[in-house]
Amino acid sequence: MKQRESNSHRRVLPSYGWYYAGVALLLFVSGCGVQSLDPAGPAAAAIANLWWVMFALSVIIFAGVLAALAVGIWGRRDDPEGRRERVGRHLVVIGGVLVPGVVILGLMAYNTYVTVDLEEPPTTPALTIRVRSNQWWWHVHYPEQDVTTANEIHIPAGQSVMLELTSDDVIHAFWVPQLQGKRDLMPDHVGRLWLQADEPGTYRGRCAEFCGRQHAKMEFLVIAHEPEAFQTWLEERQAPRPDPVDDQATRGQEVFSEYGCGDCHRIRGTEATGDVGPDLTSLATRRELGAGTLPNTREHLADWVVDSQQFKPGNLMPPVPMPDEDLRDLLAYLETLR
Ligand code: CUA
Repeated sequence: MKQRESNSHRRVLPSYGWYYAGVALLLFVSGCGVQSLDPAGPAAAAIANLWWVMFALSVIIFAGVLAALAVGIWGRRDDPEGRRERVGRHLVVIGGVLVPGVVILGLMAYNTYVTVDLEEPPTTPALTIRVRSNQWWWHVHYPEQDVTTANEIHIPAGQSVMLELTSDDVIHAFWVPQLQGKRDLMPDHVGRLWLQADEPGTYRGRCAEFCGRQHAKMEFLVIAHEPEAFQTWLEERQAPRPDPVDDQATRGQEVFSEYGCGDCHRIRGTEATGDVGPDLTSLATRRELGAGTLPNTREHLADWVVDSQQFKPGNLMPPVPMPDEDLRDLLAYLETLR
């Protein structure tokens, strides 16, 4: 009986070990963890280094604690000269006070250094971009160029840009794991955060603070271009928008106006000047719909217009039922928005 008790006691230890290892693995592979350890810019690289140092220290300390535990469980019990007890007392002072004190103070200093260092960009920012968060999408504005878009932030690669972050409603948080740490967006407050991507590429960002029912569907893309390609992108967005040329698209523009779409959405150079929903000026070039909810294809766009609530319940866009013919014309018009 005694033997069996002591065996079951021992089995508890490894089973908890597997539990914690499983939870750690789940968190790690759940996405954000992996992305922030695959940095694509100087800020994320500094944060990833900090994480690896913390991780390495944790592994070493965990191994040390396990070794001490093993000695406690399986070590010799007899101690006629009291030597083991003296060593044990020293071990408590060193391992329980000195080492944790040094490790925690050291990590705190390193953490503070990284945090302060990340406040200022490594180079003078090439431009300023204003980002306003809404339930549940991102308004993106280039004030110096007067260019507006939504749910996509285009930047030049290899240069830093300064973001001015604010919110139109509740508190959200801006996070591009591969490029920077998180920063809150608050109503009536402008926060600053710089971004820099070393290479051209597409980096996923997301809202990192619970902000209501569709918090999980509040994503965006940071698209870094070669600097010349970025200038071209900006100039294309600034050029006057041509009116639709073919009849179907022209009719589609009328549908857009008849159904009141322009009360909520803006299309530069047209009568549509709403700012309740995302700016649609370059809708056809966007990769996703509904802040990362769906890929931007013709079918998805049609379904979204008719009833976006089926994909993102609670979003502000009401269902817009319309005859097939109107929908076809409207889509033809929306596809000209480049
Ligand atoms: Cu916005 Cu969570």
